[in-house]
Amino acid sequence: MTLTEKRAITVETPYGTVEPVVGKLTNREIVFMSRHGGCHATPPHLVNYRANIWALRKLGVRKILATAAVGSLSPNFHSGELVLPDQFLDFTKSRTQTFYEGGEQGVLHVDMTEPYCSDVRRVIMDASEQLGFVIKNGACYVCTEGPRFETPAEIRMFQHLGGDLVGMTSVPEVVLARELGMCYASIGMVTNEAAGITSQPLTHAEVMESMKALGVKVTKIIEESIGLWTPDQNCRCASANREVGKF
Ligand code: HPA
Repeated sequence: MTLTEKRAITVETPYGTVEPVVGKLTNREIVFMSRHGGCHATPPHLVNYRANIWALRKLGVRKILATAAVGSLSPNFHSGELVLPDQFLDFTKSRTQTFYEGGEQGVLHVDMTEPYCSDVRRVIMDASEQLGFVIKNGACYVCTEGPRFETPAEIRMFQHLGGDLVGMTSVPEVVLARELGMCYASIGMVTNEAAGITSQPLTHAEVMESMKALGVKVTKIIEESIGLWTPDQNCRCASANREVGKF
């Protein structure tokens, strides 16, 4: 990504310190954050999701465009494709999913009718179209705890439940963004068919290899999307936390 005026900064949050990069992309201020850290050092179940999302909000971010490697459990999605999830099924086990833990912070049962912002997804679709890239809008993302891959029996269960894609990071990221009134969309990069769909065992190297191949396209889509989007939030994301209204 061609960030200008690029600089690494340190942001303190109640959940820990985060070190994102800020800069300008197509003349807009953006924050770049690598959730796994350099060299993919932090596994998905140990990512400090609350610190990351809090830091983004503290920096004034309103819209988050995430990327995520996913396996496909659906005949509609294949390795090498890009997909925008619009729903999720949560199978994580050990992650704190809220900023609202009672007491002074209060309690919030945040609305999840539309977890992934449809306006941001629309902009990503428009950007992809302008670039001549195909990207599919709408899929159900199953979030597993990881870091292991799934068993074929789990994948069959997820298929029965209506899952399309499987990954390890979207929850609680999407939930926490919503709790702070930020728009969130994620570009799912289909790196593999899920466990048991082909007879080949899954490897992390295979996932990383496919991500690298898709990364060039995704970077172009992000740049184009940021050029197209406006700072205003005309969707319902900004008011999702209205009940407590602290942020
Ligand atoms: N399962 C879970 N997470 C993943 C996969 C998968 O098959 N591929 C990429 N991330």
